[in-house]
Amino acid sequence: MLKSGRNLTMYVSSVMVFLAVTLFSMAGFSQDSDYMDSYTGADADMVGSDSCTMCHRDSAVEGSHVDTFDGDEDCADYGFGCEACHGPGGDHMGDADGILRFTEMSTGDVTDNCTGCHDDQGSFNLGDWEDGTHLGAGMSCLACHGGHSSNDMFLHEDGANAMCSSCHAEVGDQLEAGDHGVPGSDMTCADCHNPHE
Ligand code: HEC
Ligand code: HEC
Ligand code: HEC
Ligand code: HEC
Ligand code: HEC
Ligand code: HEC
Repeated sequence: MLKSGRNLTMYVSSVMVFLAVTLFSMAGFSQDSDYMDSYTGADADMVGSDSCTMCHRDSAVEGSHVDTFDGDEDCADYGFGCEACHGPGGDHMGDADGILRFTEMSTGDVTDNCTGCHDDQGSFNLGDWEDGTHLGAGMSCLACHGGHSSNDMFLHEDGANAMCSSCHAEVGDQLEAGDHGVPGSDMTCADCHNPHE
């Protein structure tokens, strides 16, 4: 029986949490635990983002990827906060180890972490990333994207042109001079090249 508005709200929100969790799992939104265990310790518990930001105050950058998961307190309990990417933090409480550090991961593991959610079965189409030029040249997603960047598409530089030109400087100059691709167009590198292929 739903006796009051408050009960109804609680009922509706638990159904929504259930649906959200089910949909997220279907889209592959949980990281494979064997893979995570090598960084976080087997069976470590989730502690929620609020615990993390007590110590790491600067990490919850507004507008960054973290906000994608942090809109809803209920989500944090299922790991859709810091722990969605860094793994369950239970073993890290009071211990510098027991947390996934991107700086110590192989290129393949970084890519597995990101594609754990961003695979082509889910809502994101990363094309033929695995056969792509940049992965083939030894890069991971973090060559261009930053975990805590807050600009559009979470890039290290603002916009595709600046991002791509930070390595392809000569082509960047040519594009600006109207000497690359379609002369005189306002297009960005990403309009013509898929960065993930
Ligand atoms: C009690 C304080 C505390 C809490 C709570 C805490 N951490 Fe830490 N964290 C630390 C300390 C201390 C280090 C070690 C810093 C170093 O190595 O320079 C660290 C290191 C890290 C690193 C590696 C940093 C690097 O430079 O490589 C990551 C990532 C991290 N924590 C994420 C988290 C996440 C995610 C949570 C929540 C699940 C969390 N931390 C909770 C204190 C804390
Ligand atoms: C979308 C995945 C993702 C989420 C969510 C996320 N991080 Fe990170 N974090 C990264 C990546 C990737 C790096 C490596 C540095 C980079 O490229 O930005 C990183 C680096 C760090 C570091 C090392 C210091 C640094 O900036 O290099 C700490 C500490 C940290 N994260 C804590 C947190 C905390 C606390 C939260 C939650 C408020 C969080 N992270 C949420 C992906 C994420
Ligand atoms: C736990 C799941 C999860 C993980 C792990 C994850 N992401 Fe995401 N990512 C999301 C969700 C959810 C969104 C928001 C999608 C939206 O708003 O349409 C998102 C958005 C993005 C976007 C912006 C997309 C847009 O259209 O605005 C980029 C870029 C991105 N993620 C890159 C990364 C990278 C790089 C990593 C690895 C460091 C990573 N993600 C790890 C779930 C994840
Ligand atoms: C060579 C640089 C580069 C690398 C490496 C890279 N990206 Fe991107 N990514 C971009 C740029 C630039 C955009 C924005 C494209 C645009 O403006 O249309 C983007 C957009 C995205 C988006 C949102 C649009 C979409 O295609 O769904 C997601 C999600 C994403 N990247 C995830 C990833 C993941 C996960 C990896 C690693 C497997 C990765 N990226 C590797 C440059 C890169
Ligand atoms: C971190 C450095 C780096 C960034 C950032 C980067 N690239 Fe690259 N790119 C490379 C390397 C290294 C190669 C492979 C060697 C080569 O062909 O120059 C490559 C290859 C390419 C190629 C194939 C070149 C050929 O001759 O077949 C294209 C096209 C390309 N990149 C476009 C882009 C675009 C578009 C962006 C931005 C979304 C971008 N790159 C960002 C380093 C980078
Ligand atoms: C209007 C479409 C267009 C735009 C915008 C564009 N390109 Fe290209 N790009 C091309 C075409 C077409 C080629 C030639 C492909 C071929 O010959 O296989 C090319 C070739 C390349 C190559 C390989 C050959 C070379 O000249 O080194 C790289 C690297 C490259 N582009 C990077 C970039 C970067 C970085 C940007 C943004 C600063 C960019 N492109 C913007 C269409 C475009």
